[in-house]
Amino acid sequence: MERYEITGGNRLSGDIVVSGAKNAAVAIIAAAVMVSDVSVIENIPGIVDVEKLYAIVGSLGVRVRKLTCTSVELDCRDIRSFFANCPEMGELRASYYMLGALLGRFGYAKIAMPGGCNFGIRPIDQHVKGLEALGAKVSIGGGYITAEADKLTGARISLDVVTVGATINIMLAATMAVGQTIIENAAQEPHIVDLANFLNACGAKIRGAGTNTIRITGVSQLEGRTYAIIPDQIEAGTYLAAVTGTGGDVVIRNVIPRHLMCITSKLIEMGAEVEDLGDAVRIKRLEPLRRANVRTMPYPGFPTDMQPQITALLCLARGTSIVTEGVWDDRFRYVDQLARMGAHITVKDGRTAVIEGSGRLEAAPLIATDLRAGAAMVIAGLCAKGTTYIEEIRFIERGYEDMVNKLRGLGADISGAGVAAEPIIEQYIRIA
Ligand code: EPU
Repeated sequence: MERYEITGGNRLSGDIVVSGAKNAAVAIIAAAVMVSDVSVIENIPGIVDVEKLYAIVGSLGVRVRKLTCTSVELDCRDIRSFFANCPEMGELRASYYMLGALLGRFGYAKIAMPGGCNFGIRPIDQHVKGLEALGAKVSIGGGYITAEADKLTGARISLDVVTVGATINIMLAATMAVGQTIIENAAQEPHIVDLANFLNACGAKIRGAGTNTIRITGVSQLEGRTYAIIPDQIEAGTYLAAVTGTGGDVVIRNVIPRHLMCITSKLIEMGAEVEDLGDAVRIKRLEPLRRANVRTMPYPGFPTDMQPQITALLCLARGTSIVTEGVWDDRFRYVDQLARMGAHITVKDGRTAVIEGSGRLEAAPLIATDLRAGAAMVIAGLCAKGTTYIEEIRFIERGYEDMVNKLRGLGADISGAGVAAEPIIEQYIRIA
């Protein structure tokens, strides 16, 4: 069985380069399906979720050609199917972006239900509400979601909750609707802005991405462009948290420091020093780790996708910390794993974790329960006394490119499988 083996205690030092953003990449690959042309996407992360999305778009007739280990050409001129039903559909959440993309371009989409990390119920009512407001007929049954419309027409849509996924699906469909769409209470994450920038580069008319009101004037056609994805905020945040835990001095390159402020401000409160170097940040921790309270919120709040990593860190600080999960109903399932390392965490109502930090963790055999929980276990292992084994690393490799080698480059004692971006030039992915 593939697993990571980590012997804790090494301070991290040196340089590390962050990959392209997972959650921007999966949205932009889907958006490229709307372009009846050839797009080149650069700064693509070499992660399993992206590979799965290539398989999905390939099954629709997209010709996927890897140009380098970080760039891909997507030829979407000859899409032959509007029915996304390959096995990979159920293995990641972002597969549901095929709904908005195919509906927007062709007026019809049928997709198998999406998968993704298990944080309790993951409703799609806001996606349905938004697409119906644009004039689509949406039905769910037999494990499929179908959306169809003779004509999509712009509408004013006020989302009941701030949702990244529904904001993206509505943006995709509305980009090719007739007239103006206004999305109110929209998600403001950096990957929403990146998606809008890609679509606008292709000829879309999207204004206000990054605020809570997005205005989209529909266009009839999009043109292929070359576009570079933003750096991954959460990958950077994970390494920032790792250095805060181990102590040391690291420069994290290929980042947008502004996107990291919601994370770095909390790490500074906990004892880290952070320096903005423009397209990099330097982090060191010389003082003892301090306790803190954290509440996750949609951007620009502290990201839910950093909640497990900060919880692991707070186990290493002395004193009581409270972490409140403000996005998902059930994202503390992993705390049983940290308890195996000696952590004292009590979870109330699935939403609040009270951490009685003792200042230390001890190595233990662990099982990654989802992507970010797995990253938290890596951080815990790097800081713990002894050798930690982490199984089910497939979850971690869904979203972190080459984590083992990146951490080894900083002096961590970690070994195990690791996904490196495939360096094959002009490789064709499976095409249906
Ligand atoms: N929600 C609804 N109805 C909907 C959609 C969402 O009530 O129709 C609720 C959810 O139940 C949740 C909240 O809205 O309570 C936010 O969900 P959102 O739709 O924003 O999540 P998502 O789009 O499914 C993306 C990321 C997640 C990240 C969340 C929140 C991708 C592929 N996934 O999920 O990333 O946790 O936004 O920021 O972009 C990860 O990368 O590890 C990850 C899980």
